[in-house]
Parts: sequence; structure tokens; C-alpha cells
Amino acid sequence: MPNGDINVCCHNNSYVLGRYPQNNIKEVWEGDKLKKLRKSISKADFSLGCQVCLDAFESGDFESVNPLLYEDFDQKKDQPVILDFKIATECNLECVMCSEYSSSAIRAKNDIAFKDLYDENFINQIKNFIPEIKAARFSGGEPFLNKIYYKLWDIIIKRNNDCEIYIQTNGTILNEKIKNLLEQGKFFINVSIDAVNPELYSKIRVNGDFNKLKSNIEFFSEYSQRNNRKLGITACAMKDNLAELPKIVEFANKYNAEIWFSEVYFPFWNALWTQKSEFIRKNLLELEKYNFEIHNSIAAKNHKIYQNLINRINNTLRITENIEKNTKYFIKTEKLLLKLKKIYITHCFNDLQDFIKIEKAINRLGDVFIYDFTLEFSKFYDKKYIFQQLNFYSEDKLFRNFEILTKNFRY
Ligand SMILES: C[S@@+](CC[C@H](N)C(=O)[O-])C[C@H]1O[C@@H](n2cnc3c(N)ncnc32)[C@H](O)[C@@H]1O
Ligand code: SF4
Repeated sequence: MPNGDINVCCHNNSYVLGRYPQNNIKEVWEGDKLKKLRKSISKADFSLGCQVCLDAFESGDFESVNPLLYEDFDQKKDQPVILDFKIATECNLECVMCSEYSSSAIRAKNDIAFKDLYDENFINQIKNFIPEIKAARFSGGEPFLNKIYYKLWDIIIKRNNDCEIYIQTNGTILNEKIKNLLEQGKFFINVSIDAVNPELYSKIRVNGDFNKLKSNIEFFSEYSQRNNRKLGITACAMKDNLAELPKIVEFANKYNAEIWFSEVYFPFWNALWTQKSEFIRKNLLELEKYNFEIHNSIAAKNHKIYQNLINRINNTLRITENIEKNTKYFIKTEKLLLKLKKIYITHCFNDLQDFIKIEKAINRLGDVFIYDFTLEFSKFYDKKYIFQQLNFYSEDKLFRNFEILTKNFRY
């Protein structure tokens, strides 16, 4: 991760195995924390940060169960099979749902300092794993703008040309250098779009131009089909683009791309769970009515992924109805602060330094009733992860996050 955290996979952000540069990657791979996680999973205990996959598994949404990715590979115990890199943050966009933590462009607007930890020493430590891996995945910032990723791709291409290289890109950066690079390795492209209406696209993906993106997707689609590789299209499911989701699926179908939806939980103001139930219900009615033309296996798979999303939005609807029906979920800001402080100290850190920002933002709301978000939330996310996410925001953004949870805002 950009802050140096080394995690077991991109979904488990709370069970930190070690931290770069303090810990050596090989030591982390052989270390006790990973052994403990393996042991707990072998006993069907998913409490060490793996709740998201357990939840997907239990709800029958097998497409979202990350460990199934590994089924295709012969797994050796002494070597990682897939490496996930989410270490870079250079980005040209300022998407509304993204954070200072992931995009340098958002950071620049908010004047937030950031130290890039990843250097030649990191590359040297990773180099030894590369010959044995089957796949490497790159996200975080805009991958095509980050020098360290080019260095890693170069090593993969030279030392393990059969390795699959997955790139999660915003799709706005494409030039001759990238086109040449793509010809040298086994690249799989996944483009994030969030809207197909050009105006809405630029509103969400600030600085992005839909027409330029579309022409780049045409290139990526031709590249993927020519090499017999899957193209992916990823969209966030959130307040801003709820009505647009079926059109995004149609767009993916047109380019023979597999669709993927990530649900937005943070920031709160973009998330669905903070919206009024009436808003979600109205949109769901339209989303459920939508008829897709299913002309091939990709369109059929996309339809299934869409149906899974509709099920998840229905669950979110139930959460919002519950919040509205039960005023007991609303507590005074002072009480929420005490509760959060206790959780923070017990489950996260002894040092209250980072908590001060949260405290200030909540105090700015004054003495009002606020939804106790720790109740529903901890079903999906580990408590430590909630604080990690909140700590990414500036005090002003934290204030906006909490403001949307107040009773006045809801009724
Ligand atoms: C952080 S971006 C990095 C890669 C690249 N810049 C991109 O946009 O695809 C990785 C993915 O996270 C998604 N994302 C951004 N903010 C999110 C949020 N608050 N919740 C869930 N997904 C989010 C993006 O849409 C993108 O698909
Ligand atoms: S393009 Fe990706 S990293 Fe950049 S701001 Fe958007 S979501 Fe964040």
C-alpha cells in the first residue's frame, strides 16, 4: 500500500503483515503473522480481515470471492503466486469518490504532504519473487503514470514473460510507449469508467474526457481481442451514477469487456447506504426492469454480475429502511465520539494522534443526533479498516462524511 503496509491481498486492508521499509518482504512472507492468518482460515475463521470474502461467499456471490482467483494456479507453499501492487499514487484525475491517499491530483488540491516510500531497494526485494509468480496486478494512482510500475513491468517481461500482468487503469493515458510496452508482455487491461454519459463522466472522473477515453477503450479492446485476452470494465456503484449502471453494462457488452462493480462505502456522501431509502427504492425499480440483449457469453456473465449487484443494492435498501425505522440507531454526537474513541483504542492504536482529526470534525457538528455507523458497518468491514479509511481524509472532508449521518440530514 502507499503507506508501506504489506497485506495478504487487496481486499484485506486491516490485517497488516508488515510494513515497508521497516520490514523485509521475504521476512514478511515467511513471518508469523501470515502463518497465523493461514491457520485461522484453515479453521474457517475469517475474522482476521477476510470478512468481505466470507460475506460474498455466504451470499452466493462467488464472482466476488477473491481466493477463487487462485484456483487456476498450481500453488507452491514457499512462493507467492500472485503479487498485488497498490503502491503508487501519481494520478491525473480527481474522481469524486477517490481520496488524497490514492491520487496525487487530489492531494495537490488539498495541499497534503506525502512521502513516496518505494525505491530501488523495494524493487531489489521484489525481484526474487518474480520468476515464480503467475500473475501480478497493478492499481493505485494511475498505473501508466507511475515510474516504479514501468520498472516492475520491465523486470517481469525480462524474467518471467509468461506472467499475466493485470492493470487497473483510468484509461485516459495512452501513447506509443504504452502501446509498445503492451506488445512485449501478457497484459490484461481493466478500465474504470463510472459513466457513459460524457457530462456525468467528467463530473465523476474530474479532468477526464469521455471521448478520449472511448477512443482509448477502442484501442484496448482491439489489443485484447487480438491477443485473446479478457478486457475488463470497472464501475463504482454509488449515489452519483446509480441510474447509469445498466448503460455501463451495455457499453461493456459492446466492447466484449467483462464488467465489474465496486461498491462505494467511503466517502459516506457518495455511498448508497447513507442515502434515503426512497431514493434507492425508486432507482432499484428502474434497474430491475432493465432488459439486456444477451448475445454472447460475456454479455451473459455481465448480466449475472449485474444481478448480483442488484441483490447487494437490495440489501443496502434494507439497511437504509432499518435506519429510518429505528430512531434508536441515532445517538448524540458526544456518545458516538466516546464509542469511536473506545473502539479506536481497543482495536487500532494506543496513540490518539490520528483520532484528533476525527474528534474535531465530529465536534464541529455540535450537539446533534447522528447515525451510529459502527453498528451496520462492522458487519462488512473490520473496525481497524474503518479508521484507516477515515484517516485518509482531511478534517473538512471528515466533517462532510459525518454531516451526512446526522438526523437533520436524513429527515
Ligand atoms: C483507486 S483506483 C486506481 C486505478 C486507476 N486510477 C483507476 O481509476 O482505475 C482503483 C479502483 O478503485 C475505484 N475506487 C475509487 N474510489 C473508490 C471508493 N471510494 N470506493 C470503491 N472503489 C473506489 C476506482 O473506480 C478504480 O476502479
Ligand atoms: S483515476 Fe483512479 S486513482 Fe485517480 S482519482 Fe480516479 S479513482 Fe482515484
